[in-house]
Amino acid sequence: MTEVNTKDCAIEVDNIRKTFDGTEYVLNGINLKIPRGKITVIIGFSGTGKSVLLKHILGLLHPTSGIIRIDGEDINEMTEEERALNRTKFGVLFQYAALFDDMTVMENVLFPLREHRRELSKKRMEAIASEKLSQSGLEKKHFHKLPSELSGGMRKRCGLARALALDPQLLVYDEPTTGLDPVLTEMVDDLIVSTHKRIEGASTLVVSHDLYAAFRIGDYVAMLDSGRVLLHGTPKDFLETDIELVKRFIQKGFHKGPAEN
Ligand SMILES: Nc1ncnc2c1ncn2[C@@H]1O[C@H](COP(=O)(O)OP(=O)(O)OP(=O)(O)O)[C@@H](O)[C@H]1O
Ligand SMILES: [Mg+2]
Repeated sequence: MTEVNTKDCAIEVDNIRKTFDGTEYVLNGINLKIPRGKITVIIGFSGTGKSVLLKHILGLLHPTSGIIRIDGEDINEMTEEERALNRTKFGVLFQYAALFDDMTVMENVLFPLREHRRELSKKRMEAIASEKLSQSGLEKKHFHKLPSELSGGMRKRCGLARALALDPQLLVYDEPTTGLDPVLTEMVDDLIVSTHKRIEGASTLVVSHDLYAAFRIGDYVAMLDSGRVLLHGTPKDFLETDIELVKRFIQKGFHKGPAEN
């Protein structure tokens, strides 16, 4: 298991348990220290609680018990205002990019700036949005199109640009490549790595079914099973483990290619 100093932790999940119905625990004592400045990939079979864990980290779900600290601060102790501010630390890209369909690419990226950076001039906001779109690899000629006029890859880039609008230090991706073809998958994985490298001090958390991606882009990998962390370590730790379930997951991943959702 990887030992991360609490001081070097971007996100600390301390003995989180979660039940929705009062009997069955979806998360059952999760301990996880997500190191600052690194890419951590969370893997695990379907239904093991990966997305539920992510929603706790983002403050969208509250744990039945346990503590989550972001930059050392307990999010349950925060006021509503502090919690809102805390959310702006995160850049989140969900599976389907979740763009606003009736807004142009540019307006999509302007949205968080208009919400949270009201002190900026219109011109400044547009300059920031253009910069984020360019950094995400979208050409200017697409800036005024609607999402429905874009390809899947371009929509991902637009979603990423919007996630980056507020210069987040914490980058979170839930299944960023599930359902994409192999070429697009590699492009999105490369984009995750280049974005991580460009933002100084950024910590990246990716939830993925894709074992190849986990080993290729992850500095660390954490595998969940039945609401617990089965193994948290480097890709090398995973290849050398004796834990039967982890070995099975790896074998399955490498025999069948990236697992399907
Ligand atoms: N809001 C909710 N209410 C009740 N049960 C929920 C809720 N959200 C998730 N669950 C349950 O929690 C369990 C874990 O779900 P979760 O979405 O975290 O799985 P996952 O590991 O992300 O799976 P996948 O790889 O398929 O995305 C599932 O059994 C799911 O039905
Ligand atoms: Mg999920």
